[in-house]
Amino acid sequence: MGSPKIMIVEDEAIVALDIKNRLKMLGYQPAGSARTGAEAVEIARSVRPDVILMDIVLEGDMDGIDAARAISREMTTPIVYLTAYADQRTLERAKVTQPFGYIIKPFEDRELNLTIEMALYKHEIDKQLLDNQRWLSTTLKSIGDAVITTDRTGAVRFLNPTAERLLGVNGLSTLGRSLDDVVRLNGANGASATAAIAVSGDQELLTHTQKMIPIAASLAPIISEEGETIGDVIVFRDATESKRAEQALKDSVKELRRTLQETVNALTLMSEKRDPYTAGHQQRVATLACAIAEVMDLDDEKVVCLQMAGTLHDIGKIYVPAEILAKPARLNKLEYSIMKAHPEVGYDILRSISFPWPVADIVLQHHERLNGSGYPHGLTGNDILEEARILAVADVVEAMSSHRPYRASLGLDAALEEIETGKGEFYDPEVVRACLSVFQDRDFRFTP
Ligand SMILES: [Fe+2]
Repeated sequence: MGSPKIMIVEDEAIVALDIKNRLKMLGYQPAGSARTGAEAVEIARSVRPDVILMDIVLEGDMDGIDAARAISREMTTPIVYLTAYADQRTLERAKVTQPFGYIIKPFEDRELNLTIEMALYKHEIDKQLLDNQRWLSTTLKSIGDAVITTDRTGAVRFLNPTAERLLGVNGLSTLGRSLDDVVRLNGANGASATAAIAVSGDQELLTHTQKMIPIAASLAPIISEEGETIGDVIVFRDATESKRAEQALKDSVKELRRTLQETVNALTLMSEKRDPYTAGHQQRVATLACAIAEVMDLDDEKVVCLQMAGTLHDIGKIYVPAEILAKPARLNKLEYSIMKAHPEVGYDILRSISFPWPVADIVLQHHERLNGSGYPHGLTGNDILEEARILAVADVVEAMSSHRPYRASLGLDAALEEIETGKGEFYDPEVVRACLSVFQDRDFRFTP
């Protein structure tokens, strides 16, 4: 950029010439010289100076202040008044035109230089501020989120077009109104919109066209340099679509779980068709295991998992020949070893199903015992999954209480005595305690 262009408005030719020479000497470019107010407006329009030095007292109808006012309507060029004297009234009139400086004649070169530099600097800062404001306002106007700002009294100061559209209002009509008049939230129970949003961003907006729309909102205070809250910014968006998508996802998960349950039911039915003697065994074990889990206060997901693992825990028996399953006598060594493979066969069948829980591992471990005497891997203590430790107890209690091909029912009392005796050695003591409580305190009975 070359040297700044300075325009002179001065009705005395000698003074104007003197200023022109001084400007040149100071390194400025004198650009246009006017003698009257009307001339000043015209020349400013064509020259577009960087600063105007304006004498207040001019010949003609229009003095310097009127000329400054007319020029300011068309451009933002900084104007510095030059005058020999100033009465209070003139000063007041001059102040209204927001001049960038005021020099009293006669003045020194240094004073002229300093005032011009200040005017140029202040003008540049004002321009940047204006650009920033324009940038910010365009950004706020074009974003897809609704934005509202309030002052410290909660009165609306700004509303972007998205907010106008969502609320069903004309922005101008809301300026200065209380935020709670403009943003009405369903279920705020008398609390202000800002207080309600501070508690939860999920809100229901009652629009001015009497529509109810779910919104996702957030709130941020506007803090002054002194650390004082001078207003709030509320940002919100229509959450109808995201709520719909969320619901669709929930429905789809529900549907998947239903399909999974049906698959489990089909598998259970298939295994029980082959083995009528243990028909219902898996179902009853699952029911007892869930009751134990509830007494142990396990979370709902674990209870659902136990329900599935329980109903499938003996699915590996599909590998065991029917004559062994139905043999009305004790099994020989070979037959027993075939029977003992059922947890691993069950694991192989189930591991390819994408359960959201470790169902295959639980089934694999349901014959493991706390002291490592179980099978197939002789796991001990907490290496056995908690759900498998629960299933083991439920399995033993149900099996002993029911008739088997090779023996009559041993009865519930004998079953409970077995887990009580084996507590800590074979069975998890906490699970045993919960199981006893299920029968003694909750009056649990197996359904036939
Ligand atoms: Fe089993």
